[in-house]
Amino acid sequence: MTAPTRNGAPEAPRDEQARDALALEEIELDLFVEALNRRYGYDFRDYSRASLARRVRNLVASLDVPTVSDLTARLLHAPERLPEVIAGLSVPVSEFFRDPHVFRALKEKVFPHLASYPHITIWQAGCAHGEEVYSLAILLSEAGLYERTRIFATDISKAAIDRAREGIYPLREAPDAARRYLAAGGTHSFSAYYHARYDLMKLDEQLISRVTFAEHNLVTDGVFCEAHLVLCRNVLIYFTTPLQDRVLARFAETLVRGGFLCVGTRENLEFSLTRSKFQLVDEGARIYRLKAGA
Ligand SMILES: C[S@@+](CC[C@H](N)C(=O)[O-])C[C@H]1O[C@@H](n2cnc3c(N)ncnc32)[C@H](O)[C@@H]1O
Repeated sequence: MTAPTRNGAPEAPRDEQARDALALEEIELDLFVEALNRRYGYDFRDYSRASLARRVRNLVASLDVPTVSDLTARLLHAPERLPEVIAGLSVPVSEFFRDPHVFRALKEKVFPHLASYPHITIWQAGCAHGEEVYSLAILLSEAGLYERTRIFATDISKAAIDRAREGIYPLREAPDAARRYLAAGGTHSFSAYYHARYDLMKLDEQLISRVTFAEHNLVTDGVFCEAHLVLCRNVLIYFTTPLQDRVLARFAETLVRGGFLCVGTRENLEFSLTRSKFQLVDEGARIYRLKAGA
């Protein structure tokens, strides 16, 4: 029942107001996504809605605009704000040797196959600030494979790529990184791979030497190399199932026959249309191998 207000007019019940606000936000979000796509070609239409809405709300707060509609207007008229908006929509959270058992599985089950190639190509998609690609470079180097490897580390966000290329991180992250490095099967000391200065660590230049960082959008950009390993962790979770399927098909296309795909612990291929093209290599690390003839 609708409660009367002081002037006698009926007041909309709270849940009705909340429903109305949500419906309005949906429209604003649709218009924002449409504007981003039509004006700049960044297509977020197939991103999971709840997390996208959260990030857009954060952007509204951090850019200090009143509503999503104001954000859309600003974006349409100020192209120079685009990198900032894309950075705000991406979640560049990572850490060195994140989920160490995944790196251990790569080292034990994938590296021996990579070792049979004279030249190795790896595509790390969604590299964020670079912690993952440098972790991989360290293990490849310890396995004697780094010198013949070329790694493409890509991300949708230019701001993230720029940070990754610098290879500079807070020194306070080093102790945990060192623990995970050992759990991943590292054989030296993590401290051998960086120089500490004040409260920062700068990674050894050698680790950057075989890495090419580039902007690449998994939604709209195509295949650009033939890879022996594709590593894409904690990215597909932001996509709807049809978009995941499209991206996984692209990974299958990019892999050489018998190439490996690692999607990490939060994603799997079990319900994807491309599942039949792959055989499971390690369940815990979600490492798959492209079948011959796939
Ligand atoms: C949570 S981070 C994952 C970082 C790293 N792979 C890891 O697991 O630690 C997700 C990254 O995916 C990137 N990303 C999101 N959408 C993308 C897209 N369409 N194409 C390429 N990268 C994307 C984001 O910019 C972000 O840096």
